[in-house]
Amino acid sequence: MTELTTHPFLTAEQWLQTLEWRYATKRFDPNRRIDPDTWQAIERSLVLTPSSFGLQPWKFVVIATQEIKDQLPSISWGQSQPKDCSHMVVFASLKELDADYVDRFLQDTARTRSVSLENLNGYRKVILSFAEATRGMHGVWSAHQAYIALGQLMATAAALGIDACPMEGIEPAKYDRLLGLEESPYATRVACALGYRHEEDGYARNAKVRFDPSQVITRM
Ligand SMILES: Cc1cc2nc3c(=O)[nH]c(=O)nc-3n(C[C@H](O)[C@H](O)[C@H](O)COP(=O)(O)O)c2cc1C
Repeated sequence: MTELTTHPFLTAEQWLQTLEWRYATKRFDPNRRIDPDTWQAIERSLVLTPSSFGLQPWKFVVIATQEIKDQLPSISWGQSQPKDCSHMVVFASLKELDADYVDRFLQDTARTRSVSLENLNGYRKVILSFAEATRGMHGVWSAHQAYIALGQLMATAAALGIDACPMEGIEPAKYDRLLGLEESPYATRVACALGYRHEEDGYARNAKVRFDPSQVITRM
């Protein structure tokens, strides 16, 4: 666990400027690539995403190979971001939450925190009763978790000066086929292209369209 010595790292104003700077990038500069150190931090940020019960019911498929990226626009509503970006992240999540998966997670917890599995038995029961109560809806639940990772990824990218485009405009079943997920416990839910904005991407200068806070925030 890292000790924080200075907090906050950014002022409120700096953080809001960062969020104003980010936008859903429509056109990436195909000649710019994210450097390995920055990419490593982005991957770590994905791994650090919080999830319900801590179960991390996801796989993040990172695509940086041009040959694969070139195949993506035709299964992404013709959008060019997956081809021109530096790295594409595909968020896949569990189709079913079963006892084997829960036990694998609990073993990892026991190892990491040096506690016995018996110690985690109460927690195991709670998770399994959740799994039982939500049977048939595990894919929806795990997709919710994947979207938390998407949010964390977008905020991280912005903080590091990396452009991103979250993408639901994809054909998940075709992504599954291309990425070899069809026979796996995971299914494609959403994706995100990352890289650097093309200087001619006019969307970067568009005013943000957001409802007035009074319409979306209720204070009690
Ligand atoms: C989950 C999600 C999926 C999205 N899918 C696409 C997409 O497939 N293509 C695209 O160009 N923009 C996509 N967007 C971008 C939104 O249109 C954009 O975030 C929204 O209009 C707000 O604009 P801003 O992000 O530039 O502030 C998506 C956004 C989210 C959050």
